[in-house]
Amino acid sequence: MPRIIEEESYTAMSLKDKNILLGVCGGIAAYKIPMLIRLLKKQEANVRVILTQAATRFVTELTLSTLSQEPVLKDIFPDSSSVKEDWTKHISMGEWADAYIIAPATANTIAKLTAGICDDMLTASFLTLRPEKPKLIFPAMDGEMFASASVQRNLAWLSENGCTIINPESGELASGQCGTGRMPEPEKISEMIETAVTGNLAGSTLHGKSIVVTAGPTREKIDDVRFISNYSSGKMGFALAAAAAKRGAAVTLITGPVHLPTPAGVNRLDVESASEMDLAAKKHYPSCDIFIGAAAVADYRPMNHVAGKIKKNSTAMEIGLVRNPDVLAGFSKQKKTHQLAIGFSLETAGNIGYAIEKLEQKKLDLIAYNAYDGKTSGFEVDTNILTLIDRNGNVKELPLLDKQEAAERMLNVVEKLISSGK
Ligand code: CTP
Repeated sequence: MPRIIEEESYTAMSLKDKNILLGVCGGIAAYKIPMLIRLLKKQEANVRVILTQAATRFVTELTLSTLSQEPVLKDIFPDSSSVKEDWTKHISMGEWADAYIIAPATANTIAKLTAGICDDMLTASFLTLRPEKPKLIFPAMDGEMFASASVQRNLAWLSENGCTIINPESGELASGQCGTGRMPEPEKISEMIETAVTGNLAGSTLHGKSIVVTAGPTREKIDDVRFISNYSSGKMGFALAAAAAKRGAAVTLITGPVHLPTPAGVNRLDVESASEMDLAAKKHYPSCDIFIGAAAVADYRPMNHVAGKIKKNSTAMEIGLVRNPDVLAGFSKQKKTHQLAIGFSLETAGNIGYAIEKLEQKKLDLIAYNAYDGKTSGFEVDTNILTLIDRNGNVKELPLLDKQEAAERMLNVVEKLISSGK
């Protein structure tokens, strides 16, 4: 029987000994920060917290310093009694940090960061941070404020200048209204920090790995102008390819016909039919470390491909179909112990049993059960709800996420599977 595993028992120590600088601004979402610090400390990260003056109205220094086990920083100018070292804290924090997280980031602080204003410890440390270090900014504010021209202009500038902006989520806001402005939950922020820190360093277990991803639909020709296919957009496979490349993997993306740009740093091979996909994939079987079957490969193809265009000579017509090769199963049949086979199982809601069967039958290391509802999860849409089941029977349920985020979370699980060695 699969067991739903607790988030905690799956916690890898990828942030162990990493220095995480947390800048907290004065917004109601600051109430999530103590929980975030706990999650980071559980991973044995070193955490230093900087508060703006306004943030002290929402969370107490005592709470944050107790949880981080370090004094909280606030002012550039310390009390006159302080030792000399304190006068240069805004410089040493910038040198010390492996990542700078500003959460929640208010409109005011975002404007200051954009302008280069450094009148408090949070903004000054932003300027002294080493340029190659990840900077994650979590804007959280009222929906109208977030949509305002100046906030959007400032965020665009920060994004163009090396910051990762994590757009707020939609939901109920402190004002009682519904809108876009909510800061993500601490678990999600913690995973994003993990991805940013490990993904930008050679520390990612996917760094240097060779990964093949199949994506999109296949087209099975009936005649020269007609085919059998499905609604797959390729978005999930492309998101996985992009996320793996960002983590330093050498990615080959074998895709059926889709309308998507090639992700940066990815080697793309365009194919049309299942047989072509199978042929292209087979060339990479021996050299790849991880094979991810995200394509919606047509299970059958017309027995005969008629040259030209079939004319309508009768009121009914039959097309004989034959089975296509199973690209993913072909890989796992020959895979060596160090190679991982990962698949998807798109099912109508409630059929997780089919996914478990596929995991076993195709000898996979991980399968993503994809509950199809046609609206938020499945083909064509930008979001997905995945449940990840690994070869050891561990089950991780992901919430509704956009496909990029779902891809990141899925790769986090792949990394944990690799590091666990089980
Ligand atoms: N797959 C593949 N080649 C095929 C069929 C499927 O590589 N010819 C891969 C898909 O990329 C996906 C997984 O196998 O990772 C899906 O398994 P499958 O059993 O084929 O799922 P369905 O086609 O949905 O099967 P069924 O219609 O029986 O539910």
